Amino acid sequence: MYIIMLGAPGAGKGTQADILSQEMNLPHIASGDLFRQALEERTGVGLLAKSYMDKGELVPDEVAIKMILERINQPDCAAGCLFDGFPRTLHQAEVLDKAFREQGKTIDKAIYIEVPNGELVKRLSGRWLCRTCQIPYHIINSPPKTPGKCDKCDGELYQRSDDKEKTIKERLSIFFTQTIPILDYYKKQNKLIKVNGNLGIQEVARAIISALKVPMSP
Ligand code: AP5
Ligand code: MG
Repeated sequence: MYIIMLGAPGAGKGTQADILSQEMNLPHIASGDLFRQALEERTGVGLLAKSYMDKGELVPDEVAIKMILERINQPDCAAGCLFDGFPRTLHQAEVLDKAFREQGKTIDKAIYIEVPNGELVKRLSGRWLCRTCQIPYHIINSPPKTPGKCDKCDGELYQRSDDKEKTIKERLSIFFTQTIPILDYYKKQNKLIKVNGNLGIQEVARAIISALKVPMSP
C-alpha cells in the first residue's frame, strides 16, 4: 500500500507514520527528515533546504520531488510506503501520480489528520526529537522514559530550529495556502480519509488503522 499522511505542522504525521510503519511493515518516508539528514551530511541539497526551512518556507518543488522520487525508487519501497510531508503542493501531488502511473503503481489512500491551530502550536513548542532515529516526543504528552534520551535507540533528543514561534506561524500559514488544496485533489479521487487528530496518540492511531481496515496488533 502507498499511503500519504497529510496534516498541518504538529498534526502528528510523523508520530502516526511511525506507528503505522510498525503495524503495516512499511517504510516511513518523511521529506523533512530526509532534508534534515542531508543537512547533517552537509550536502548541497541539505544546505539549500536549510535556507528555506529556517524561514518556515517550502523547499522548491523540483528539489523536493527529485529527492523523494530517488528515495522511493529504492527496493524497500517496491511494495509500498508511508509518505509523510510529501506531497505538499498540488504540483508535487500531480508529479507523484504521473511517476506512479508510469510504474503501474497507485496511491491507495491519503489520510488527513485534522487538529485545531491552538493545539498545533502547543505540540510544536513542546516537541523533542531523537537525533538518530527522528522519533518525536513531547514534554507533556509523550515524554521519554529518561529525559533527553530516546526510548528506542538511546539517541540524544533535540528541539528543531523551525519550532520557534515566528517560524511555526509561517509554516502554518504556508500549510493553509499551499497544502490544503491537495485535500480536494485526493477527495476527487475518492482517496481522502479525514481523522480527528485532536485525541490521544493511540486513539488517533486506532482511528487511522480502522479506516484503512488493517488488522491492529494487540
Ligand atoms: P516537516 O519535517 O515535514 O515538518 P511539518 O510538516 O512542519 O510537520 P512536523 O514534522 O512539524 O509535524 P508532524 O505532523 O510530523 O507532527 P509530530 O508527529 O512530530 O517539514 C519541515 C520543513 O521541511 C518544511 O517547513 C519545509 O521547509 C521542508 N519540507 C518538507 N517537506 C517538503 C516538501 N514536500 N516540499 C517542500 N518543502 C518541504 O508531532 C508533533 C508533536 O506533537 C510531537 O511532540 C508529538 O509527540 C506530539 N503529538 C503528536 N500527536 C499527538 C496527539 N495525538 N496528542 C498529543 N500530542 C501529540
Ligand atoms: Mg514530522
